[in-house]
Amino acid sequence: VNGDKKKQSSSSSSRNVFDNASNLLTNLLSGGSLGNMPIAEGAVTDLFDRPLFFSLYDWFLEHGSVYKLAFGPKAFVVVSDPIVARHILRENAFSYDKGVLADILEPIMGKGLIPADLETWKQRRRVIAPGFHTSYLEAMVKLFTSCSERTVLKIDKLLEGEGYSGQKSIELDLEAEFSNLALDIIGLGVFNYDFGSVTNESPVIKAVYGTLFEAEHRSTFYIPYWKFPLARWIVPRQRKFQDDLKVINTCLDGLIRNAKESREETDVEKLQQRDYSNLKDASLLRFLVDMRGVDVDDRQLRDDLMTMLIAGHETTAAVLTWAVFLLAQNPDKMKKAQAEVDSVLGTGKPTFELLKKLQYIRLIVVEALRLYPQPPLLIRRSLKSDVLPGGHKGDKDGYTIPAGTDVFISVYNLHRSPYFWDRPDDFEPERFLVENKNEEIEGWAGFDPSRSPGALYPNEIISDFAFLPFGGGPRKCVGDQFALMESTVALTMLLQNFDVELKGTPESVELVTGATIHTKNGLWCNLRKRSFAH
Ligand code: HEM
Repeated sequence: VNGDKKKQSSSSSSRNVFDNASNLLTNLLSGGSLGNMPIAEGAVTDLFDRPLFFSLYDWFLEHGSVYKLAFGPKAFVVVSDPIVARHILRENAFSYDKGVLADILEPIMGKGLIPADLETWKQRRRVIAPGFHTSYLEAMVKLFTSCSERTVLKIDKLLEGEGYSGQKSIELDLEAEFSNLALDIIGLGVFNYDFGSVTNESPVIKAVYGTLFEAEHRSTFYIPYWKFPLARWIVPRQRKFQDDLKVINTCLDGLIRNAKESREETDVEKLQQRDYSNLKDASLLRFLVDMRGVDVDDRQLRDDLMTMLIAGHETTAAVLTWAVFLLAQNPDKMKKAQAEVDSVLGTGKPTFELLKKLQYIRLIVVEALRLYPQPPLLIRRSLKSDVLPGGHKGDKDGYTIPAGTDVFISVYNLHRSPYFWDRPDDFEPERFLVENKNEEIEGWAGFDPSRSPGALYPNEIISDFAFLPFGGGPRKCVGDQFALMESTVALTMLLQNFDVELKGTPESVELVTGATIHTKNGLWCNLRKRSFAH
C-alpha cells in the first residue's frame, strides 16, 4: 500500500502543477467584473514549477489581502484577510456554497456534509455534530492510544530486527506510517471497522487509497471529463475508481446493516446518558444508528461515513508529518517536547485528562497546522451578490462581488500573514501563549483567550479568524477536537519512544498539494529507541 501510495503521489506531483495551471486557464471561459479590486495577472509560468498556493502568497504581498486572480476573463477572488474570511464563513455563510469543490466531491461523498446542499446539510449536521461530544472524545482518546501503540510496537519490531539495543536506528517513511495510523483510527472511531493497515494490506485499504488519489486528481483537474457519458467505462482510471468505490461502499453497507441489526436498547440508554464506560462499540456509526433509530436512510448514512473517512484521514496524517518535519529541524524544541512528555507521562500512556497537561505538544500540533494548513485553500461560490467588508488597512472600502463569484480563502496566506504574525515562517509553538494585540488593524482583536475560555487548543474564535485550521462558522470542521486530540496522542507516543531525525536535508523533502499538503517522496527519518522508554 505504501509503495502504491508513494508512486501515486510522485506521479501526480508533476501533473498537479500542470493541472492547477490548466484549471485556471480553463476558467478563462466565463468571467465577471469585480470593480476596482486589484488584479493579479499571473504568467502561466508562475504556476508550472510550484504549487498554486505559493504563487497566491506572493500575489497577496504584492496586491493586498483581497485581489482578483485573472488569467483572462475568468476571475477568482483570493481572500487573505481575517475580517473578510469571517464575513464569508460566518456572518454571511449561507450566501455561499462550496462551488467547484462540491462538483468534484459529490460523486465520492454523495450528500455527505462537505458537498451537501443546504437542506441536507442542515438536517445531517444537526444529527452528526452531537456525536462528537466529550464522552465520545474521551472514549476516542483510549482508541488513539491503543492504535498509536500498534505503530510503536511495529517500529520496535523493525528495530529488533536491527539488533534493537542502544544505538541501532532504522530508516522509515513516517508519512506512510502516519497515514496507516490515521486510517486505522478513522475506521474504528467512525464505523468500528479495523482496517489494520499499520500491519496489513487489504483490498479495502487499497480501495481507500485509490479513492483518495482520485479525489486529489479531481481537485486539481478542472475539466470534469469524468462526467462525460461513458467516461466511467472507457477511461481506465475512472473504471478503477468505480471499482474502488464499489469495494468501499460494499464494506460500509455491511457495517451499516450490522449496526442496525445489532442495535440494543441497553446501548441506546447508555448512549442517551453519554455513558461510554462499558460500550463495546463506541463508534460514531453506533451513535447515529442508536440515537436515530433504524429507519435512518442507508444511503445517507453511507455518504456520511464516506465523507468522514476521506475528510479525517489524510488531513490528520499530514499534520503529524509536518509536525515531525518541523521538530526535526528544531532540536531544542524537540528536546523541550520530549521533556514535557517524560515529565507528564514517564513511561505511562496518554489519557484524556493528561492531554490537558501536554500543553507544548498541543501547541506543536497547532503550529504545524498554522504553517501547513490542510487544505491550504477554502473554496466558496457566492449564491447572490455580496458586499465584502473592508479588511485591514489598504482594503478599507470593501468590494462588491456578483453572484457566481468563485472565492478562494487562502488559509495559507492568513496563517503566514506578515500583518498578523511575528516572523510568520518560523516554527514557534510558544507564539500562541503571547497575546497578540495588533491595534493598527481595524476590527482585529488579536489573540484573546477569554473569547473561548476552556479551549484546549487555539482556534479561530480566540484569533478572530486569523488562525482557522478547521475553517469557521456553520461549516466548520465537525471533527476538529477528534483530530487535534488524535494528533496530540500520536505525536506524544512517538516522541516518548523514539528519537527522530530527518534522513536527508529539509530541502530534499519536496512538497506537493492536492486536497492536503504532503511530501513528494515520503518523510524519511532515522528512528532510534529512546533509552528512557525501555
Ligand atoms: C470540514 C479541516 C479532520 C470531518 C473541514 C473544514 C476544514 C477541515 C478546514 C472546513 C472546510 C470548508 O469550510 O470548506 C480538517 C483538518 C483535520 C480534519 C485540518 C485534521 C487535522 C477531520 C476529522 C473528521 C472531519 C477527523 C471526522 C471524523 C469533517 C467534516 C467536515 C469537515 C464532516 C464538513 C463539515 C460541514 O460542512 O458541516 N475540515 N479536518 N475532519 N471536516 Fe475536517
